[in-house]
Amino acid sequence: MAITIKSEREIELMRESCRLLAIVHKEMEEAIRPGMSTWDIDALGDGLIRKLGCVPNFKNYNGYPASICVSVNDEVVHGIPSRKRILQEGDIVSLDAGLIYKGYHSDAARTHAVGDVDPEVRRLIDVTRESFFAGVKMALAGNHLYDISNAIDAYVKPYGYGIVRDLVGHGIGTKLHEDPQIPNFKQLMRGPKLRPGMTLAIEPMINMGRADVEWMDDDWTVVTADGSLSAHYENTVLITQGEPEILTLY
Ligand code: MF3
Ligand code: CO
Repeated sequence: MAITIKSEREIELMRESCRLLAIVHKEMEEAIRPGMSTWDIDALGDGLIRKLGCVPNFKNYNGYPASICVSVNDEVVHGIPSRKRILQEGDIVSLDAGLIYKGYHSDAARTHAVGDVDPEVRRLIDVTRESFFAGVKMALAGNHLYDISNAIDAYVKPYGYGIVRDLVGHGIGTKLHEDPQIPNFKQLMRGPKLRPGMTLAIEPMINMGRADVEWMDDDWTVVTADGSLSAHYENTVLITQGEPEILTLY
């Protein structure tokens, strides 16, 4: 399947889809506090998405049972919200959310600290976010896709963290997952050339320990194999003639 190029009209719809998602993320971030369940976060996010007149794109996607992926501590992604999972001071929580506006998908993720966390945990969250920005600097028309992957890898390497290899970023548009796949680690080839009108969900997932991940028995929740903490940061990005536009920033 080819990488879709969005028309000016489609780009406007992508911009609006992503702008609304940024609002949802902002409100979820502000609500996070110790004592809250991961179910509460999903209920809040789901309600906001619908109040904005949009549809949660994760709900029932391949059978995923919620609207927001809520992944705590060693959970990398796709944590299933639960009334029994209560956030504690010192935890980290990754919120991955997406919505559909007039047929156009947006997708973004953030990892937040619950109350105060240790400095080395803060650093994992910060480096994960910074690695996205290192990658997105290369998201220029005329560059190649894997320039993004290589920049993320090079940014993270000095910290000794494990870059998750089993899950990758993706194109996005009228579907949540479009071509191309976007690895977050060094590639030997250059990949397809980037062109204006491509919309990409770039999403480094970084483990404090080793890169290996496992799937839990619920067949969704991805956890680090060594039990180390994991952080995630994702935005939907538009390739332009000039600087990339990060569409899901608040
Ligand atoms: N945000 C995820 C991604 O980038 C999608 C969540 S999977 C779902 O692929 F099943 F929960 F939707
Ligand atoms: Co994504």
